[in-house]
Amino acid sequence: MKKISIAIDGFSSCGKSTMAKQLAKTLSYIYVDTGAMYRVVALAALRAGVMESGEVDLDRLKECVKNLDINLDANAKAYLNGEDVEGEIRGLEVSNWVSKVSAVGFVRERLLDIQRELGAKKGVVMDGRDIGSVVLPDAELKIFVTADADVRAKRRYDELLKKGEPATYQEVLDNIKMRDHNDVNRAVSPLVQAPDALLLDNSYMTIEEQNTWLLDKVNEACNK
Ligand code: DC
Repeated sequence: MKKISIAIDGFSSCGKSTMAKQLAKTLSYIYVDTGAMYRVVALAALRAGVMESGEVDLDRLKECVKNLDINLDANAKAYLNGEDVEGEIRGLEVSNWVSKVSAVGFVRERLLDIQRELGAKKGVVMDGRDIGSVVLPDAELKIFVTADADVRAKRRYDELLKKGEPATYQEVLDNIKMRDHNDVNRAVSPLVQAPDALLLDNSYMTIEEQNTWLLDKVNEACNK
């Protein structure tokens, strides 16, 4: 079967990453989690004190981004300057800042280069917010994922509980709504469904139903 590029975009906490990772595994494709890259930048900025005033200090962020070494391994685990930061980038502190950091033009430019390079080869599943619209506009298959905000908050809350991360359901819901708002309304590369992207609302779908739906779409795209 011919290899294609698959772009998966959508709202936060829709299960995009799990879905994309699983799909890449099934197809023996490379998986690229672009959200993890923005999370690593946010973590580096937090550690460097870029947000200590309560706002993002753009001059300090620029300095921080210049010296950044971001890596994703074959299992899509994230590394910052060689340190495994996969656990830390999923916490609430990074989640609270990441959409502000990812709205900054020079941050996006820096990561766009890395993402396009990774996506240049066929046989890639890349997930994010602007993959179908900006990063890989020629992807043969584009999927835009959504789910009701309260369904997403419940899923994320359960996940944090399991990890022992302190958070209330309301905090998680507020964070999701804030990120939706920031993702959709930012000036640079806002979250938008590309005109040729297929909509997947998984609010009330089982994982199996979703997998079947996805593989159908992959087969159609490969046979075009
Ligand atoms: O998918 P995620 O929740 O891990 O993404 C983290 C943040 O990064 C989210 O607030 C949106 C942003 N992001 C982005 O702006 N563009 C992407 N391609 C991927 C993520």
